[in-house]
Amino acid sequence: IIEDIIGRRIFDSRGNPTIEVEVYLDDGSFGRAAAPAGASTGTYEAVAIPVPDALSKLENEVVEQLIAEDATDQESIDMLLHDIDGTDNFSNIGGNTSVAVSMAVAKAASCSVYSTDDYRVEPPERMLYRYLGNAYPRMPYPLGNVLGGGAHAPGATDIQEFLVSSIGADTIDDAVYGNTLVHKKVKKLLTDAGIVCGKGDEGGWAPQVKDSKAFEITSAAVREVSDEVGFSIRLGLDVAASELWDEKKKVYVYKDAKRTPAQQVDYIAGLVDKYDLFYVEDPLHENDFDGFAELTEKVGDRCIICGDDLFVTNVKRLQEGIEKFAANAILIKPNQIGTVTDTYNAITMAKRFGFKTVMSHRSGETTDNTIAHLAVAFGCELLKTGVVGGERIAKLNELIRIGEDIGNDRMTEDLP
Ligand code: PGA
Ligand code: ZN
Repeated sequence: IIEDIIGRRIFDSRGNPTIEVEVYLDDGSFGRAAAPAGASTGTYEAVAIPVPDALSKLENEVVEQLIAEDATDQESIDMLLHDIDGTDNFSNIGGNTSVAVSMAVAKAASCSVYSTDDYRVEPPERMLYRYLGNAYPRMPYPLGNVLGGGAHAPGATDIQEFLVSSIGADTIDDAVYGNTLVHKKVKKLLTDAGIVCGKGDEGGWAPQVKDSKAFEITSAAVREVSDEVGFSIRLGLDVAASELWDEKKKVYVYKDAKRTPAQQVDYIAGLVDKYDLFYVEDPLHENDFDGFAELTEKVGDRCIICGDDLFVTNVKRLQEGIEKFAANAILIKPNQIGTVTDTYNAITMAKRFGFKTVMSHRSGETTDNTIAHLAVAFGCELLKTGVVGGERIAKLNELIRIGEDIGNDRMTEDLP
């Protein structure tokens, strides 16, 4: 039973204020969660409100309604959050407020269900994946950016993220390790080529090079590290094409080219084959269901085509995507939709129609590791959460710990 809820302002990995929520139950259980924040946010996402407003909404409108509620009834809690908010995109109490409350309630409930005095048993906060999930969980493969630009590093590449995943690794430990080796290799290849650079918001290298150079370097890095470690590591992209799209002129604007929607489809399809891409996210802008469908038709048999800004973790938008065969995967960002239950519902619908599900961080993150648990609990095939940086590594290290509990070789079986 929820006894108290408090909120506070903390800071995310960009140094921006964000909201953290703590939930206390009458049996002494406790849960804490923080809202992340995007830079290349989709138009149809749940709305994040300024932190001072979020804190006062929490205090004045949310807390008293949630007190005395059963924390283990996540669905009712999340429905209550929707009722209190009264809008369809959490623009009243804030999607940031809502997601932090919803996740903190889940953590407090898992603490309550799994709390024990035996120190040899996993700490209760590690049981969130089990509390929310099924009896036979599997691990997702980590997917992370090693190089990028776009809204996360203006002046660097046009394509927002060059991603890697060690999908040939047998264990979660090797899968995390393989990605870190590629991150290092990319830096070495850049340095060898005389290119100096810093990092973008998510820890990927941010050189001021053309995308063609970035492809050359990342594909070489993936090849070399795969050979060294003896398992397959593959390349992927988050184009974040809404950021490149000029709605007035109806073209995608790159530094050295403009592409019509038809040219964009051909361009991306060409990249899939040239660089053996296993994953492409947001190749077209967030309203182009038809363009997505065309690309999926062309390369969907050999590449995961994932909608992020297209679907915004929203079942209504996903439904439209399913009907139009617009993709074969969905990015899952709990703060895009605002509650754990809505997150689960999006994943459930996606799975029912054979879509892959990719649990994801935001570019502005904290050390909150809830998404690692959600990815395992809900059976996501991939967890997109960067490769380096404390706020990314927090999730990856949690996966390693969960792996100790369920078996570090119990990887998802639903990737090629
Ligand atoms: P964001 O970017 O968190 O800045 O929106 C991540 C993504 O586009 O996947
Ligand atoms: Zn994205």
